[in-house]
Amino acid sequence: LDKKVRQNNLEEGNFINYKKMSENLAIVRSRLNRPLTFAEKILYSHLDDPHGQEIERGVSYLKLRPDRVACQDATAQMAILQFISAGMPQVANPTTVHCDHLIEAQVGGVKDLERAVSINKEVYDFLSSACAKYNIGFWKPGSGIIHQIILENYAFPGGLLIGTDSHTPNAGGLGMCAIGVGGADAVDVMANLPWELKAPKVIGVKLTGAMSGWTAPKDVILKVAGILTVKGGTGAIVEYFGPGVDTISATGMGTICNMGAEIGATTSLFPFNQQMQDYLNATKRKEIGDFARSYAKELRADEGAEYDQVIEINLSELEPHINGPFTPDLATPISKFSEAVKANGWPEELKVGLIGSCTNSSYEDMTRAASIARDALNHGLKAKSAFVVTPGSEQIRATIARDGQLKTFEEFGGIVLANACGPCIGQWDRRDVKKGEANSIISSYNRNFTGRNDGNPATHSFVTSPDLVVAMSIAGTLHFNPLTDKLKDKDGNEFMLAPPSGDGLPAAGYDPGQNTYQPPPKDRATVSVQVSPSSDRLQILSPFNAWDGKDALSCPILIKAQGKTTTDHISMAGPWLKYRGHLDNISNNMLIGAINAANGEANKVKNQTTGTWDAVPTVARDYKAKGIKWVVIGDWNYGEGSSREHAALEPRHLGGLAIITRSFARIHETNLKKQGMLPLTFSDPADYDKIQPDDKVDILCTELAVGKPVTMRVHPANGGSPFEVKLSHTFNEAQIEWFKNGSALNTMAKNAKH
Ligand code: F3S
Repeated sequence: LDKKVRQNNLEEGNFINYKKMSENLAIVRSRLNRPLTFAEKILYSHLDDPHGQEIERGVSYLKLRPDRVACQDATAQMAILQFISAGMPQVANPTTVHCDHLIEAQVGGVKDLERAVSINKEVYDFLSSACAKYNIGFWKPGSGIIHQIILENYAFPGGLLIGTDSHTPNAGGLGMCAIGVGGADAVDVMANLPWELKAPKVIGVKLTGAMSGWTAPKDVILKVAGILTVKGGTGAIVEYFGPGVDTISATGMGTICNMGAEIGATTSLFPFNQQMQDYLNATKRKEIGDFARSYAKELRADEGAEYDQVIEINLSELEPHINGPFTPDLATPISKFSEAVKANGWPEELKVGLIGSCTNSSYEDMTRAASIARDALNHGLKAKSAFVVTPGSEQIRATIARDGQLKTFEEFGGIVLANACGPCIGQWDRRDVKKGEANSIISSYNRNFTGRNDGNPATHSFVTSPDLVVAMSIAGTLHFNPLTDKLKDKDGNEFMLAPPSGDGLPAAGYDPGQNTYQPPPKDRATVSVQVSPSSDRLQILSPFNAWDGKDALSCPILIKAQGKTTTDHISMAGPWLKYRGHLDNISNNMLIGAINAANGEANKVKNQTTGTWDAVPTVARDYKAKGIKWVVIGDWNYGEGSSREHAALEPRHLGGLAIITRSFARIHETNLKKQGMLPLTFSDPADYDKIQPDDKVDILCTELAVGKPVTMRVHPANGGSPFEVKLSHTFNEAQIEWFKNGSALNTMAKNAKH
């Protein structure tokens, strides 16, 4: 284990540290004294403090040291802007950025890419220059989808990766523990803070038998999603084991892990095996495969390891599935699908079939799909539905161009889009149906929420394997079952499609295609980060002011929010996403979805200095301009939903001091602390009702100390006598420093200087 093996072929100084991992594991083992699951082994071998860390699944918060960080272009913007504001010369841990989310599908790969490069020029210029400056690997637009590039280049067995995208778990196909996070978490690791994760529970999925015929790896996760539902994996890692595991290709395992995001799982992973070693060999990483072999006993679960729940699936009996519409856990086996279409009145005609995406873009997927298309062509048939291919990476595109599958798809009537997310993330200028028109589409993607693909709420979007997408596209109807139904060839003779056949790995090796990677230059000091001062999409962040050391007196309540206040209410998505690199512009959505207890309305609050009613961000800006600190009063579980860091940055930017609630969603609470705000909770939740929206409050910040409540003095607007309420908090010593210095990043910058 003493060998020096590089994490990948692109970076010089980053090594795989099995030695350290096994030492950490030995420490944890001696403490826990029980067999461990594979997921636990990876997490515990990456503990910041293996001796002292409290470890209880589902309870403790683990402080971890991930091996890598990956960001996609949409989420990277604010992550990097925040990192810059910490004032560090380079990232502390290996990081890559991938341009895949901002490319709109319109007419086809080459033209769409050209257009995207010009529309998003300022974002790409910023990301590429910032990556060069801070020692981050940059994958240009056209390189492919983040998770495919990670699997091809960066994933390694036993590693811990965090990525600012929900489908980061894709790397579980190579035995990596890969977890999707918000930008604030990525910034922590880039800046060398330990990363916190609630110790996940572990769900075991035992696979037996082997797949054949029309059944594909995708069907495993479609089935699991049906069993566990979209909430069933929350707070848990899904770990596959059993003899069936060795029958699935590494990329097939990637597909299964990828879509584990749809059941809310923290991540999914497979134990190291020969299939992974074969994939590592094929992607020119033989040394990593050999190294993993020497550490193999720690790259699977211990004998007798206990799972919190076990599901068993016999692959030999697994039927192809189609999930949807509108939700990925509505699982229907193909034998029952036609019935379900009728019973539910789903539109029968299949308008569009789409293959590819980060979920299903492997060489195996493409060769199997092409074998079905070729079978149809041999019978004189083409796709009846529109047919769309999004290759997951430039390497996959170039390889299937060389080996003929791409030509088959084109002959079949397919249009080949850029190597990017495209229609999967709604970057699809779809023109064949009008908005509001009910219609059906089927894809090999992972997510099918209402409106996700084309913005049309009446589009019924189904997800399945690429094989079934191709078969259904030939028939043009949702009633077709290729396992039992016949088609008519060009002469009217009946025939059945042959089951798909494909190669797990290209016999002639992968063709890397065009070079789309920009390594950080040796001389980074001279690089300057490009942000136009007139940009409306990007804005350099200035560090927030440090605390003035005083109690805050006579603060107005910007809004007393009632009921659910999620991160979507606090910082809406949709059209606002365009501004996610521009804090001042995106702050115009602050709390516009929250319901004001004063009038039951959204985005209408009283400006306490003028008496006029106005939009929430407008009033906040007015207070800020007048030098008045304000607070928010919130209800239960304030900030639930996502880890979106904008929901914490915006109130801080617009002059907020404290968010006082009955309770917080934990991630949002931590995010507020990181930005230098005070998340406080009523020690007696009933006190929420004692506060009126027009009251003024004093927050006695000077009392802030670990484990001690903070006093809030309330001055009732109705002239009643002032009274005090106690506010609890969860600040520890280090976090109190964040508040005092103005933010976690200010604290890091300060420490870096000393
Ligand atoms: Fe992109 Fe869709 Fe995957 S948005 S990262 S292809 S889930």
